[in-house]
Amino acid sequence: MPDESKETQSRKIEHIEIVLNKETQYRSKTTLFECIEVLPSGKRISGEDVDASTTLLGRKIAAPIFISGMTGGHPSTYEINKNIAVAASRIGIPMGVGSQRAMYEKHDLAYTYDVKKAAGDLILIGNMGATKLLKYDDRKIQEMLDSINADMLALHTNPAQESVQPEGDIDFRGVYSRICEVGKSIRQPVILKEVGNGISKEVAKRVDGKVYAIDVQGAGGTTWVGVETYRSKGAYGSAFWEWGIPTALSVLESKSAFHGPVWASGGIRTPSDIVKAVAIGADMSGMAKPVLVSERRKGAEGVYDYLNKLIMDFRNEVGSLGFSSMEELKNAEVKIGEPLASLLKQRGAIPKNMVNKEVQEIA
Ligand SMILES: Cc1cc2nc3c(=O)[nH]c(=O)nc-3n(C[C@H](O)[C@H](O)[C@H](O)COP(=O)(O)O)c2cc1C
Repeated sequence: MPDESKETQSRKIEHIEIVLNKETQYRSKTTLFECIEVLPSGKRISGEDVDASTTLLGRKIAAPIFISGMTGGHPSTYEINKNIAVAASRIGIPMGVGSQRAMYEKHDLAYTYDVKKAAGDLILIGNMGATKLLKYDDRKIQEMLDSINADMLALHTNPAQESVQPEGDIDFRGVYSRICEVGKSIRQPVILKEVGNGISKEVAKRVDGKVYAIDVQGAGGTTWVGVETYRSKGAYGSAFWEWGIPTALSVLESKSAFHGPVWASGGIRTPSDIVKAVAIGADMSGMAKPVLVSERRKGAEGVYDYLNKLIMDFRNEVGSLGFSSMEELKNAEVKIGEPLASLLKQRGAIPKNMVNKEVQEIA
């Protein structure tokens, strides 16, 4: 019988090297944040006077930004998680770890995710593939989270990735019922996340009231069909490279059907993306690949410098638009252009603060 835990470990290393060394971004599909314009308030505010802070689980965080879960499970990934955690803690934002499947299979690997001891105060988000829930036991999942002192659990659904992964798990039957069950049975708040293909309105509705938040991880950034296409040396997947719901559309679809927090992620790359995400109602915005790149460049210092500049530029942009807090930015008016405006109309997901109402009247 193959040693599953060895396979899981080496896959984690391959993923990192492929994301860092190959072209793994969507080629023609974008997040559609470029269709959104945030209208200025008319007030004059300096970036220095902008309070970018917000709260998560009753705790203050420096900005509505988090680091998406990426790694853990191979001895060499501890250093990466630790460096990211040190920077996240110093800045004051949450971070996720990658799938904890490796430690579920082999508890000796728990230390590769266990970064709070080295990093200090931090909101830490655990991670598990949703299909694994069909076989895994709630009590053991709870122990797995507690053993790294995780504050939340992100459950990732990734049907596109699994479908093209050589060793993918493609029996998804019963997966949403299990997500809802685990959302109740686990002490930590549960987030439903994708990995770059987005969450639809239908899925958001399915888990409404059952999980704490949705993290859309939509299309426009890293494509996991792309990553797996490299792993399979082109045997699977390239036809689905562009498959997925653009992040901005996925945020608004999710918000139209889900009553809890909705997080924007997948292709978030600039301060403007985050400004627009807040203005369309996303409670947080997350990034994966840019953080990995900055970690590879200069460890914890590289991640800190990258995030620190991102937040400074974000505050300057919010100030230039005339808003002094996240609460004010959430109430900004937005103009939405094509093709996003028509897609929102088709999907019945037009936000209340969209000012170009004439678009809504197009039959
Ligand atoms: C190297 C790497 C490993 C990842 N591993 C996981 C994982 O184990 N679990 C998960 O939920 N998402 C994982 N992701 C997906 C990210 O959380 C995110 O959804 C995706 O990369 C899109 O974000 P981006 O465009 O900012 O990179 C990984 C991403 C990267 C870059």
